Amino acid sequence: MTENYKKIIKIVKNGPFLVYGGIPLVKLIISSNDSNYPYEWIEKQVYPQLEEYALCRCGKSENKPFCDGNHEKFDFEGMETASRESYLSGAKEINGPELKLTDNRDLCNHAGFCNRAGGIDYLVLHSDDPKAKKIAIQIAGNCNSGRLVVWDKKTGKSIEPDFETSIAVTEEPDKGVSGPLWVRGAIPIESSNGDTYEVRNRVTLCRCGESSNKPFCDGTHIMIGFNDGDESILKE
Ligand code: FES
Repeated sequence: MTENYKKIIKIVKNGPFLVYGGIPLVKLIISSNDSNYPYEWIEKQVYPQLEEYALCRCGKSENKPFCDGNHEKFDFEGMETASRESYLSGAKEINGPELKLTDNRDLCNHAGFCNRAGGIDYLVLHSDDPKAKKIAIQIAGNCNSGRLVVWDKKTGKSIEPDFETSIAVTEEPDKGVSGPLWVRGAIPIESSNGDTYEVRNRVTLCRCGESSNKPFCDGTHIMIGFNDGDESILKE
């Protein structure tokens, strides 16, 4: 029983994400600025607290975000194809005066926060400007996939949001689609073969069933117009 109280996400082969340890589940939507660039995350819903639950990974549940067993009916093939290498081993670096950026494109889910105010690369290259530095830090923290990380060049440390451990069901009304599961606060994710992926503060898990980088989201939900049925959110 002890294991059930440890915070962890376990992936079932061709099945759901099993969540243990009473991890809070919320719904977050992307809010855009006046120029239509994704700007911030807004909390829309807090789900009832559950000690354990199963989240749909195939995109076919009729009770999203929870699993209803439809992965079996639809013969879901959920093979985990993501690299087991570390984030940094696949990241390129951009060095600015006060900030360094590491950017692992393999993790991109196309949320699009990085494009505003001239783009994250430009902002990091001009990080001796306090305004540019502040926006670069905001953008990286909003990058739910964890593709982007900014580092303080003086201390050599990454600058990360201080998340409460939680999972966010995301919606992207700017694109008219439902987004991935945003895993926040360094929750271990165990592969269906028992390995544990690198534990990170921010990662996104595919819940549409179509990512080519499972278990992580690769943005395919946008191309397929994934909709989890929350029309009221998507129309806002
Ligand atoms: S949720 Fe993004 S690719 Fe499936």
